[in-house]
Amino acid sequence: MRKTGNNLSMTINNLAVSYNDHGPEDAPAVIFIHGFPFNKSSWDRQVEILKDDFRVIAYDVRGHGNSDPGIGEFFIELFVNDLFRMMDKLNIERATLCGLSMGGYIALSAIVKHPQRVEALLLSDTQCTADTAEGKEKRMMTIENIKKTGVENFADASIKNLFASASFSEKIKEIDEVREMILNTSKQTLFSTLVALADRKETCSRLHEINCPVLIMVGKEDKITPLAAAKFMHEKIQDSTLRMIAHAGHVANIENPDSFNYQLTKFMDLVGKKRFCLSDTDGN
Ligand code: MLT
Repeated sequence: MRKTGNNLSMTINNLAVSYNDHGPEDAPAVIFIHGFPFNKSSWDRQVEILKDDFRVIAYDVRGHGNSDPGIGEFFIELFVNDLFRMMDKLNIERATLCGLSMGGYIALSAIVKHPQRVEALLLSDTQCTADTAEGKEKRMMTIENIKKTGVENFADASIKNLFASASFSEKIKEIDEVREMILNTSKQTLFSTLVALADRKETCSRLHEINCPVLIMVGKEDKITPLAAAKFMHEKIQDSTLRMIAHAGHVANIENPDSFNYQLTKFMDLVGKKRFCLSDTDGN
């Protein structure tokens, strides 16, 4: 029998995954995938507005939040496999995937792998490119810096890049919330995920295959995955809409939830009504 509520647990791929499950069981499913190094609570503001009309799942990616890290190295394909096993366990054949940043990398890799299981996509503050050599180097330096100076310094440095300038005076509570998520992530998960992010494959060359409704959102002041990255994806994905979120940096859903949710509900209204189908060009 289906369980509903927050902080539920299921075992997949030999690990306990923590998730929230709300809304009517027979409604179209929406799955939220958080960025690095956050957790499912980063989507609370979005779960709240969709849960009357959709079955809404938010989960902690392996090692993050309350999900176990499991054994072995992390890589994006492993996160994608966890996502599909979780959908199997929840009896969800198809879902709208909503991913922010790393969550977007997971969502893009998921649709490339099994397009028939994705009804629509929300890509927020993310990109389709792989890391450059310089980007990979920076991630390795971040690992070394965390080892030397600790997670608090990492959290402070991250915060500087995550938020829009005005948020530093106007969004104190939200900044604390994000800092808490970072501080609550284990060093091992930080290291393993940084390596997974550095090793991720590009998905840009597959964007033309995406044949479902896609909403791309980006914070106007996103310094990590800027507007140009969003525009690039928008140009390549045929049925995509691009929306820029004002007064927001990289965590647009937290910094400006009103604008973000306005665009999200408009999009989900369309998805809910039309229940578009995807062409299954590569269902392996
Ligand atoms: C994230 O928010 O998930 C990260 O900024 C992604 C990245 O560093 O590439």
